[in-house]
Amino acid sequence: MTTSRRRSSGSGEHRVPAHDFHAPVLLEQAMSYLIERDGLYLDGTVGGGGHAEAILARCPGCRVLAVDRDTEALDAARERLSFGADRVVFARMSFRVAPRHPLVREEKLAGALLDLGVSSHQLDHRHRGFTFRRGARLDMRMDQSTPPSAADYLAEAPRDALARALREGQAPRPAAVAARIVRRRASRPFATSDDLVAVLEAVLRRRAGHAEKARLFQALRIRVNDEIGALTDGLPAIRDALRPGGVFVGISYHSVEDAIVKRAFRDWSDPSHGLPPRLPVRAADLEPLGRVLTKKPVTAPPGETEVNPRARPARLRAWRKAA
Ligand SMILES: C[S@@+](CC[C@H](N)C(=O)[O-])C[C@H]1O[C@@H](n2cnc3c(N)ncnc32)[C@H](O)[C@@H]1O
Repeated sequence: MTTSRRRSSGSGEHRVPAHDFHAPVLLEQAMSYLIERDGLYLDGTVGGGGHAEAILARCPGCRVLAVDRDTEALDAARERLSFGADRVVFARMSFRVAPRHPLVREEKLAGALLDLGVSSHQLDHRHRGFTFRRGARLDMRMDQSTPPSAADYLAEAPRDALARALREGQAPRPAAVAARIVRRRASRPFATSDDLVAVLEAVLRRRAGHAEKARLFQALRIRVNDEIGALTDGLPAIRDALRPGGVFVGISYHSVEDAIVKRAFRDWSDPSHGLPPRLPVRAADLEPLGRVLTKKPVTAPPGETEVNPRARPARLRAWRKAA
C-alpha cells in the first residue's frame, strides 16, 4: 500500500490531461444514490477522478479516500482533484484491502463506490498493453509493479486454468483457444496483441471480429488482474466498513461482475443471510444487514451512450446498510 497527499511528478511521457483520462459513467445516477451525508467516502476505483470530483464538488462536508492500483490513474486523479486537496487522500492499493487503510480504521465510511473494469486511458494507450490494436505489447496490468503481465501469464498458465479463465471471462471458443496458446508457446513466446489475435483467428479459421477480439482480451485482462477475486473479497470487506445507513454503489461493465454485485447486494438484504440453515427463528424476527436501493440495474440513457459508447454495458446497483 502506498499512501500520499503529495502531488506527484507524474508518469513522464505518458502523462495525460486529467479530463482526457476517462469520462465518468452514470455520474448523476451514482451521485444521487451515493451522497446523502457528510463524511468519508471510499472511491475504490478512482481512475481519472471523475466520480470523486463530483463527490468533493457537490458535498463540502465530504472527504474521499481515492484508491486505485494504477499509478497513472492516481497521477491524473491528483491533478483533477487538486481543488479539494485538503479533503482527499490517495492510496495505491487494491480496493480489496482498502478497508485496512488507516483512515477507514479510524472512521467508518459514509459511502463507497466501485466503478469496475478499466479506464479509457488504460484501454486507449498502447503502452499499457490492454488493446488488441496491432503491435501492442501484451501487458494488461493495472498495477504495473506486480507480475505477471499478460505475456507472462500466457507463457506459464496451465492449459486447464487458461481454459477456465477464458470461459469465465466469456471469451470465444475458450478450450480451443487455450489449447492453441499452449501449442504455440512451446515454440514462440507471446509478446504482442498480434500473437494472441493470430491464435484466435487460427481457431476460428477466419478473421476475428471486433467483438470476438474484445471478449478474448477482456477475459485475459480479468484473469491477469484477478478482478473476480478482488471483487469477491472486496465487497463484504467494504460493506463491513460502512457506517449504519452508508450506501454502496457498484458499476459493472461485464455480466460476470454484475452478477457478483447483484448476488451480494441481494444476499445482504436477506434477513437470514449468514445464519446456519434450519435455525429455530422466523425470518420476520430477523433484521437484514441492509436493503437494495435499485430494484433493477440502472443503465446509461441514450444521451450518454451516444457521447460515450463505453457507457453502453454499464450496470449500476446500489445498496444501503441498515441504520
Ligand atoms: C472504470 S475506471 C474508473 C473511472 C473513474 N470512476 C472516473 O470517473 O474516472 C476503473 C479504474 O479502477 C481501477 N481498478 C480496477 N480494479 C481495481 C482494484 N481491484 N483496486 C483498485 N483499483 C482498481 C482501474 O485501474 C481503473 O483506473
